[in-house]
Order: sequence, then C-alpha cells, then structure tokens
Amino acid sequence: MKDIYILAIESSCDETSVSIVKNGKEDIATTVNSQIDVHTLYGGVVPELASRLHLENITLVIDETLKKANMGVEDMDAIAVTYCPGLLGSLLVGLEAAKTLSLIYNKPFIKVNHMLGHIAANNIGQELKYPLVSLVISGGHTDLMYMEEEGSFKYLGRTLDDAVGECFDKVARILDMPYPGGPNVEKCAKDGSDVVPMPKCLDDNTFNFSFSGIKSHVNNLVHNAKQRGDVIKKEDVACSFQNAVTKSLVSKTRQALRATGVKYLSVAGGVAASSFIREKLIDMCNEESVEIFIPDKKYCTDNATMIGAAAYMLYKNGEFSDLDVNASSHGEL
Ligand code: KG4
Ligand code: ZN
Repeated sequence: MKDIYILAIESSCDETSVSIVKNGKEDIATTVNSQIDVHTLYGGVVPELASRLHLENITLVIDETLKKANMGVEDMDAIAVTYCPGLLGSLLVGLEAAKTLSLIYNKPFIKVNHMLGHIAANNIGQELKYPLVSLVISGGHTDLMYMEEEGSFKYLGRTLDDAVGECFDKVARILDMPYPGGPNVEKCAKDGSDVVPMPKCLDDNTFNFSFSGIKSHVNNLVHNAKQRGDVIKKEDVACSFQNAVTKSLVSKTRQALRATGVKYLSVAGGVAASSFIREKLIDMCNEESVEIFIPDKKYCTDNATMIGAAAYMLYKNGEFSDLDVNASSHGEL
C-alpha cells in the first residue's frame, strides 16, 4: 500500500505546531513553537496575544518542518488542522493556513477535533486496541469515554466544573508558581508530604469529576494562613493536592474499566505528562489486569503530530472537509 503523508497544523491554544506524519503513526518531522515564555508573564494564556503570536510564527513553523523532513507540500497526501475546541482567534490562524495550503496545492483537507488528536497520540509508535476506555486529561477537559472501535465515542463522564489541568494551573498560581502550573506543582510536590487534609473530589458512583471544591479549599487554606501570618509549607500543599486529585482520576477510571469490562485504557492530554499521575494509573491498570496506553510525554501536551495521527483515521474513511469549515471554541467527539 502507498505510504500516506499528512501535513498537520495545531494552533488551538498557546503552541504553534506543524508536523508531517506518515501512515498516522510515524513522526517524520515536528516543530512545536511554544508561547509559554510570553504568557507566563501574565500568569496564564492571553487569547489576543496567543493569536498574534500564532500569526507571526505559522509560516516559519511550516517552513521549518518541511525543511526538517526534506519534503515539500506537493509531497503531501492531505492537509489537516485542528478546528475545535480551543481559542477562536488561535484556531483561525492554523485553519486559514491549512485551507490556503490545501487550495494552492490542491490537496484534500481534513478538519480535526483537538480531543481526537489527544487520543490519537496513542497511535504514534504503537497502536491502540479496542474496545477501550479513554481518559483525556488536559487544560480544558477531563473526559472518560467508552470507545467500542476507532471513531466511536460514548461519553461516560466528564468534569462538572474545572478541568484537571486548569485546577493544577490555578493551584500553582495560588502557591506563587508560574504558568503552566502542572509541571511546577509536580516538581514542588516531590519535596513534600501528604499531610495537609484535602476534601475528596466527587466520591460518588458516577463517572463524573469535580475539581472546583479542592481548588477553593487550597485557595482558602493559603489565604487564611497568610492573613494569620502562619508559615505554610508549599511542598506539602502541592503534594497533598496532587495526591487527592490523582486519587480521584484513578478511582473514577477504575470504576469505568470495571463497569465496561474492557481490558484497554487510553490516557492522553497534557496532564498525562505528569510522571506521578502516569505511575498511579499504571499501578491501577496492573491491579486490574488492563493494558494501558499513554503517549510519550512530548505527545501528551499540545502538538501537531497527534493531529496528523487523528487525521489519518479520518483519511482512511474518506472523511474530508470542504474549505468553508469554520473554527469553533467548543466541539464534542
Ligand atoms: O493538552 P494540553 O497541552 O492543552 C490543552 O489541550 O489544554 O494540556 C495543558 C495542561 C495544563 O493545564 C498543564 O498545567 C497540564 O496540562 N500539565 C500537567 C503536567 N504537565 C502539563 N499537569 C500536571 N502535571 C504535569 N506534569
Ligand atoms: Zn490539548
């Protein structure tokens, strides 16, 4: 069979990324231009700045990626791009760039949902097995899904309020750590102990999550300590918070695996870059005799390789899009 090369673009938040992916699983060349250094000055992503930076960088990132692969757009079989969900102004930059390439080079155009991209990251260098339970944990999502086969999605549960990554980012801010919070909280937690009492995160028999309670708890704890002039050990707060959140992720995922009876778990999204969370999910899967799929850390946080991997799933089914597709801040699978 002929090899299929897809040029994929991702610009839904604060990473401008372009990748060339072969047969949906081989990363031929990828560039990720992160805007973190700029947004960190403001404590979080500033949407207007994000779209302006995407605009400044997109053509450079496309050129750099093609150069690394020693290929041209004419060598591609399709152009793919994230069109939802994400920041509208950011999505539009990638979308217009992809449409332009598709039009000029007369290449099939594939629109990709960012969340499918996160899941598809598990096809890079390995191959997902079905039926599976999918846990996507990112800055915007905490979703548990059942996938009977590739392309079929049944939501089991999701967060009722904050996404888990968003909660890490907020707690980091409360503890005076820079954006993005996840990696900083994880690093700080290594020097702490689980000694600060934390509320349980939605301990019920649904597959839903809730993280706003624990976030408010940390906020009140730190605020009250400051007002009283008490010294608070940041490391212990970070460690106790991380443990409580991870317990919730592990327990709900275990419940979903038991309820569906499936033997494969796909974990994806930026928060899956956490060594601590990876380890706890792996332990749980060992206990449950479940095979776990987690992408390499670099494919957990936003990147275009995962968009190329997802686009290949759609390419195989002939699911191409017209060029009149618009960006959307929301989007279900
Ligand atoms: O998937 P992603 O790159 O962007 C979205 O689609 O949202 O996820 C970013 C999120 C951020 O909230 C970041 O704090 C979190 O992933 N994250 C982590 C870690 N590394 C990144 N959260 C916990 N521990 C980490 N090591
Ligand atoms: Zn993402």
